[in-house]
Amino acid sequence: MGSGWAEYSAATGAKVWKTADTAEVSRTMNIYVVYDSEDGHTEVLAQAVAQGAAESGEADVHLKSVDQADVRELEGMDAIIWGCPGHFGTISAGLKAWIDKLGYLWAHGKLVNKIGAVFCTTATEHGGIEMTLINLITPMLHHGMIIVGLPANIPENVLYGSYYGVGITCRLEESPDDPPNLPTADDLALGRALGRRVAEVTSRFAGKRGG
Ligand SMILES: Cc1cc2nc3c(=O)[nH]c(=O)nc-3n(C[C@H](O)[C@H](O)[C@H](O)COP(=O)(O)O)c2cc1C
Repeated sequence: MGSGWAEYSAATGAKVWKTADTAEVSRTMNIYVVYDSEDGHTEVLAQAVAQGAAESGEADVHLKSVDQADVRELEGMDAIIWGCPGHFGTISAGLKAWIDKLGYLWAHGKLVNKIGAVFCTTATEHGGIEMTLINLITPMLHHGMIIVGLPANIPENVLYGSYYGVGITCRLEESPDDPPNLPTADDLALGRALGRRVAEVTSRFAGKRGG
């Protein structure tokens, strides 16, 4: 980090980093995490992703379910992470319906160059995890977003191969009355790693690191 100091900008309310030559660089990134979840499996993973993104201390993280999320908020974000349960090998209808509200933002290029990443849960290991992740990435590419996955050298990812984003399996409950089989500690570590990486890449891409 270069020489300088942090203070709040009276104009914008954002925390800014002033370097020795008084150039102002915003220190506040905004990262949006939006998810669909019927029975809570994906919601718990979304919370871990958001937690990882917040760990940098440089980002305001906005965690929203599709019911709470307002597409108008996306324009002010530096990074957007979205995720859902895999439904028949693809995006759940709940999240897809929300993504399909982004037409105005697409038409006006409002999400171009924002950082993007994705996550999903499924009930089976070979039931479409990668298909779902790729299908989640596709609309981001249409928007001109820059996709971040998890490389193999991230310790949490060594045995998972979650290169397209985080995709994890929560085994089906034996009875609908059973409590949900939630993501394991390793699954959640993977989710936090994705959030941390998005924050790191967003910070570098936006040139917000001093020195
Ligand atoms: C309509 C529907 C379709 C599903 N399709 C798949 C599938 O293709 N492959 C799979 O492994 N699991 C499938 N599942 C299981 C969910 O992906 C899985 O239980 C997920 O963890 C649920 O997450 P949630 O509790 O956040 O909704 C499906 C579930 C539903 C309700």
